[in-house]
Amino acid sequence: MPDDGIPPLNGWSESELDRAFASVAKEVELSARSLNSPEEQEQFRLYWLGRKQGRLKAISDAWLKAAPPQAKKLIGQRFNTLKAEVEQRLERAAASSPGHEFDAETIDITLPGTRRKLGAEHPLIRTWHEIVGIFQRMGYSVGVGPEVETDYYNFESLNFPPGHPARDTQDTLVIAGQERKPLRDRLLMRTHTSPVQIRTMEQQPPPVRIVIPGKVHRNDAADATHSPIFHQVEGLCVDTNITFADLKGTLDHAMKELFGSSVRTRFFPSFFPFTEPSADVQISCPFCAGSGCRKCKHSGWIELLGCGMVDPTVFEFARLKQPAYDPKKISGFAFGMGIDRIAMMKYGIGDIGLLYSGDLRFLEQFA
Ligand code: DAH
Repeated sequence: MPDDGIPPLNGWSESELDRAFASVAKEVELSARSLNSPEEQEQFRLYWLGRKQGRLKAISDAWLKAAPPQAKKLIGQRFNTLKAEVEQRLERAAASSPGHEFDAETIDITLPGTRRKLGAEHPLIRTWHEIVGIFQRMGYSVGVGPEVETDYYNFESLNFPPGHPARDTQDTLVIAGQERKPLRDRLLMRTHTSPVQIRTMEQQPPPVRIVIPGKVHRNDAADATHSPIFHQVEGLCVDTNITFADLKGTLDHAMKELFGSSVRTRFFPSFFPFTEPSADVQISCPFCAGSGCRKCKHSGWIELLGCGMVDPTVFEFARLKQPAYDPKKISGFAFGMGIDRIAMMKYGIGDIGLLYSGDLRFLEQFA
């Protein structure tokens, strides 16, 4: 008998193996009675599982190695069950012992967690919300429209007839493979938010007061003031007796809200196919209060948005779906402004590309 205290097997029959392993299992059970402290657990582990001196290793040496080939499998199976039993007792003891959560290897739940950095509103989105909020406080609702638009909504219904030179002022990105469709159904990336004017009127009769913020696309080369993707807020107000004075008052108020109450506005004649008359709105330079500086090219004024009275032709298109848009009975104004440009002015951003760069050194300044 070897001096490791492992009793020799009395042959290789299954019943003899069962008896021998059952007696070891009983030993395991006895020695696992007191596993309350980490020290006791470690002792138990070493006694049974120790790589060199462990009892399981000794059993394996004494029984498995000496066994004839046909008995090896039977011993191996019982041996694995025994080993799993030892390991389970250890795991259970470790999990239920008091002070377990303070073990060096486990998580101390009393420590503060890993903090995620708090995000901040992007300056573009902040400006978007600010503009929309100003109009909401004047009773406007907020709408949306698709970025992939048909030629009909982006151009034709806004009184840009096919072939009209005004189309060329908005360098358009068209969706490929549309040539077989009639022109009005062909898809493009909307070049402005104005198509949502018609979409809104098709959906609801007057009165309408709505702003539509959103992304627009143009085939422009990127530079400090141009980006092929930028953002606009469209506005539309339709009711009985809406006049140019309402347009002026509304936009003057909005600009004062946006840039401070000392800012003044002035309206210059302009042209847009969907408004008549049309105007460009300038604000007194908020950087020099109108006295002239580099930002306003020493004119004291900065051009900020387009607007006008809704052209009767546009109402005629809306009327195809909503008869109440009768230009003899109602009138309205519309306006459109670039969010990016306004954000750049408000925050002194010199390059539009910074708004799309995702550069944290830039963005963290707004946190
Ligand atoms: N859609 C025009 C543009 O992108 C901006 C604009 C001008 C919108 C006048 C309007 C408007 O609603 O009345 O250049």
